[in-house]
Amino acid sequence: LMRIRLSVKRYRPGSDLLPVWQDYRVEIRSDLTVLETLIQLKEEEDGSLAFRYSCRSAICGSCAMKINGSEKLACQTAVREELERHGDLRIESLANFPVIKDLVADMGPFWKKVGSVTPWLHFKSEGTRDASQKHLNREAFDHFHNVDACIFCGACASACNSLEVSPQFTGPAALAKAWRFVADPREAGDEKKARLGELIAPDGIWDCVRCNYCVEVCPKDVRPMEAIIRLRREAIQDGLGNSPAGRHITAFVEIVRKEGRLNEGLQPLKMLWRSPRLLLGVLPLAFNMALKGKLVLPWHWPIRGIRFVRKLFKTEGTKRP
Ligand code: FES
Repeated sequence: LMRIRLSVKRYRPGSDLLPVWQDYRVEIRSDLTVLETLIQLKEEEDGSLAFRYSCRSAICGSCAMKINGSEKLACQTAVREELERHGDLRIESLANFPVIKDLVADMGPFWKKVGSVTPWLHFKSEGTRDASQKHLNREAFDHFHNVDACIFCGACASACNSLEVSPQFTGPAALAKAWRFVADPREAGDEKKARLGELIAPDGIWDCVRCNYCVEVCPKDVRPMEAIIRLRREAIQDGLGNSPAGRHITAFVEIVRKEGRLNEGLQPLKMLWRSPRLLLGVLPLAFNMALKGKLVLPWHWPIRGIRFVRKLFKTEGTKRP
């Protein structure tokens, strides 16, 4: 047995003005998980404490919460390990989700976003991308098997930097699910293009800032950010890269191919020349940079040894962004 102190962020919207941290002291077996500790706490000390769980086996995703600042499944997080690493135990609800009570996050907006990517197959037997592939073969499955492991716990959405500043962003879990269907060869090609067309809209794939936090916190190794990058690549290859964000990538690759390094003067021009309003918007910044001597002119010579860079681009897989 060990006696521990833990702090839980308590909040009842509607009756509490602000969340408050409440400290508890409990005696627990040293091999308990955070979820088992919360259950014991609720049964023995404070029946008003609210949290959500079901399977207790890292399957249902219900018990995701922030434990010592990181998104984790409470049922697979050992108290002893947390105490050894952090010295204490601080538990709060997922970030970027409204709170229903204490540790119970409102998953409603999250599910709505998952629903918005049409998370099911539009199977058309006469229009499959590969007519021989009415059943999924192993090779095709490998493209999205990580994504299929998602249990929709919401850990990635809680850790997402982009969602924090832009609550309308579709978010990592929903976009990873979208990749699962874009990568599925059983749908018709036009269906795939239609999906991608919706995903490149504002609040879609280009709003990810690639902080990688979703990958770090995911308890199932779904790697949502990788799925988003694959969606971007597909969109560009399907001719849907004509947005400032899409052109950022194509311009970047084109410049490096030609000059062997990034040209920070040319890059914004290549991205924005088709969007005069956005181009005008960056002029004050360019002016201020020029005043401070930090404006980079767009005319550069290629680096020495550029032929080696171009050779690299000629190898398979680097010809296209
Ligand atoms: Fe189901 Fe933790 S209780 S994942």
